[in-house]
Amino acid sequence: MAQEKGRNLSEVQTRIGASHNINDLDRKLQFYGRWAPDYDQDVAALQYRAPRLAVDCLTQALPGPPHAALILDVACGTGLVAAELQARGFLQLHGVDGSPEMLKQAQACGLYQHLSLCTLGQEPLPSPEGTFDAVLIVGALSDGQVPCSAIPELLRVAKPGEPCQPPLHSPTFPSSHHIGLSTPWAK
Ligand SMILES: C[S@@+](CC[C@H](N)C(=O)[O-])C[C@H]1O[C@@H](n2cnc3c(N)ncnc32)[C@H](O)[C@@H]1O
Repeated sequence: MAQEKGRNLSEVQTRIGASHNINDLDRKLQFYGRWAPDYDQDVAALQYRAPRLAVDCLTQALPGPPHAALILDVACGTGLVAAELQARGFLQLHGVDGSPEMLKQAQACGLYQHLSLCTLGQEPLPSPEGTFDAVLIVGALSDGQVPCSAIPELLRVAKPGEPCQPPLHSPTFPSSHHIGLSTPWAK
């Protein structure tokens, strides 16, 4: 699909590669803002599988029926993680992201019950302690994006209980840890 809009695979790779050199958070969020309308088709061209892999982990880690679980998707982007969650029966979905343009795409996908603008590392999550049955962060836990120092904030809003899945590696965004899955943490 990237080719339909005139970009071939190597152009998409170049675009993503350029983002790896942006370490300033405000500039990175501006980059994501410009990318938002094309994000889904570009990462599809790269066979980006991180959302599916993260939701695979969640389904194994989370006890109980999926429809009963309240999930927070941190750095939700356009809503690719929500699409995977919905396909597995997770229907109570909240999302946060630091890019208004990404949130506009997420709103359009119609899968989130609640969306908030929030820049992790600069401000707290807009939820009380112990709100969510699981907190997911996919494709965003890295230098220049969501810093590891924000992990305690992710854990704060998760219900205490279950262990945390460590970050996994994503070949599409290879510079750092890019799939973090936080299910309720034993506090
Ligand atoms: C590679 S996209 C991943 C989006 C989605 N999770 C996915 O897997 O398709 C990274 C997302 O993180 C968001 N982001 C980056 N740094 C952030 C921060 N510090 N706080 C909130 N969102 C951030 C960007 O706006 C972007 O939507």
